Amino acid sequence: MTISQEHFRSELEKLPRFKLSQLNTPLEPLDRLQQALIDQGVDVPNRMLVKRDDVTGLAFGGNKGRHFEFEIAHILEGGFDTVININHYHSNQARFIAAGCVKAGLKYHIVSTDMVTAPITGNLLLCKLMGAVIHRSPNEYGRQVADKIFKEETASGRKPYILPDDPFVDVMGMIGFIEAGLELEDQLAELQIDGPVRFWGLTGRSIAGLRLYAKNRGLDWRATACQYSPGTIEDFQNVTADRSKQVVEMFDLEQPLDTDDLQVLEDYRGPAYGEPDDRVIEAIQMVGKAEGLILDPNYTGKAMSGLIGEFRGGRINPEETIVFIHSGGLPQLFAHADKFVD
Ligand SMILES: Cc1ncc(COP(=O)(O)O)c(C=O)c1O
Repeated sequence: MTISQEHFRSELEKLPRFKLSQLNTPLEPLDRLQQALIDQGVDVPNRMLVKRDDVTGLAFGGNKGRHFEFEIAHILEGGFDTVININHYHSNQARFIAAGCVKAGLKYHIVSTDMVTAPITGNLLLCKLMGAVIHRSPNEYGRQVADKIFKEETASGRKPYILPDDPFVDVMGMIGFIEAGLELEDQLAELQIDGPVRFWGLTGRSIAGLRLYAKNRGLDWRATACQYSPGTIEDFQNVTADRSKQVVEMFDLEQPLDTDDLQVLEDYRGPAYGEPDDRVIEAIQMVGKAEGLILDPNYTGKAMSGLIGEFRGGRINPEETIVFIHSGGLPQLFAHADKFVD
């Protein structure tokens, strides 16, 4: 039994939502990148496409534009007036919450951990421009700082919400990409693509949401996720399978994800989170020159270096249509400008 598109649509409509993004996002060809690879003697599949979730609009866009429509509505429903977040210097999520809070009239504190002396640029600069209160703290003290802000805000009569404490954050990203699944099914049908499709992106909730949609719709969609941060493949697969069970329950679906529903590659994550290797730099330059498409060194550049690496290694089935998920993350490119100067 497969679940109908109408069922997915009506379940999505039941959820509170706060409009932040320009949807649907385009699905575009990557013909020039395909040709550039062929020119290098690399075997590529017949069709390569990119889902432009970097152009959701608000605050330079990105996949969080989908996730946070549900999260901001959930925060407002809880009656909160202040959001406290803890995240890394490079975090796109930190930027997007700043934008969502401004739109919803919420006060926002970001406890920006690690790299505490790095210049305020990229996402952190944008947080500042959008009125976030920035607290910089080494990772080990991040929680203490957040708790102190919580006490102070409560004492001053406000109702604060510590974002990482709410399990809803773990599922709303999958929910956002269930909707991307609906969009993509229609867009692929318009292009008359009915063979196997492989979605290519990063480990996280977005690609998992897409895969969950496909599994319950009975579509021949496969998915590969490249790792960009520490952690084992098994941990990611287990956490994802667990989260998917919650979404299955919320949406009254039939099949959660099994641990092997997503292929996960760990060879492209570079030296560390926030640090690209030479293959990432090369991939970003190649895609920029071929397509005028801008990727970043922390996230989408790593996914693209994985895709190019797997093409070069002959490990991709030429029958598959590749759909690269451009999940955004552009602002942090500027924190890595030195790596692109000859
Ligand atoms: C640009 C970008 N793409 C992908 C991800 C992967 O995670 P998720 O799908 O859970 O957002 C992140 C995580 O922060 C991200 O910033």
